[in-house]
Amino acid sequence: MKIFLDTANLDSIKKYSEMGIVDGITTNPTLLSKEKGNPIQTMKEIVQYINGPVSLEIVASTFDEMMDEGLKLAKYGKNVVVKVPMTMDGLKVVKALSSNDIKTNVTLIFSANQALLAAKAGATYVSPFIGRLDDIGSEGLNLVSEIVQIFASYDISTQVLVASVRHPLHVIESAKMGADVVTLPPDILDKMIRHPLTDKGLDLFLNDWKKLEKEHPDLKF
Ligand code: G3P
Repeated sequence: MKIFLDTANLDSIKKYSEMGIVDGITTNPTLLSKEKGNPIQTMKEIVQYINGPVSLEIVASTFDEMMDEGLKLAKYGKNVVVKVPMTMDGLKVVKALSSNDIKTNVTLIFSANQALLAAKAGATYVSPFIGRLDDIGSEGLNLVSEIVQIFASYDISTQVLVASVRHPLHVIESAKMGADVVTLPPDILDKMIRHPLTDKGLDLFLNDWKKLEKEHPDLKF
């Protein structure tokens, strides 16, 4: 399963990319609004820094304007994935962009039917927002399971990109279901890296090494 970082923060992107655990980036207007500086510049810098796919979201709502934005975003780099909302005009945009070999990520997916139609229109990725479903008392992971099952049944190549992830269990369950990608806010990646038994075990090893250093004063690797 691929791991994308769900952020527009370049420091976080650099920090986790250096660990070799980031396959791509997803952004949206809300994430960009949390960062200082010009959002266009930020998007361009992310695209240049990352080798993998970077989802950049269009904000227009009519077909012509959406196409204009999508084509402009696609010029930021070969790794750009145009993020398109799940609307009727959005589907037309997905069809047109994918016919031009431009990758798309259909966002704000809340039902398996929406995912199926987005895939049919030619989406590279569909993004079910599972945390927001949980928020309204609907099991978000059930949606991932449905989409994965449907795509497998019909050999659909569109990738399931699990978004709106709120805790590490969302990641484990998505992986077990066979989701292609999860996109994670940096704090969730932190939680996945850390474990109290790792910290405790490391303290023990380091303390024991200090004892050895006392016994052998010129101990060096
Ligand atoms: O990638 C979509 C994600 O950013 C939405 O997450 O937490 O706002 O539901 P959230």
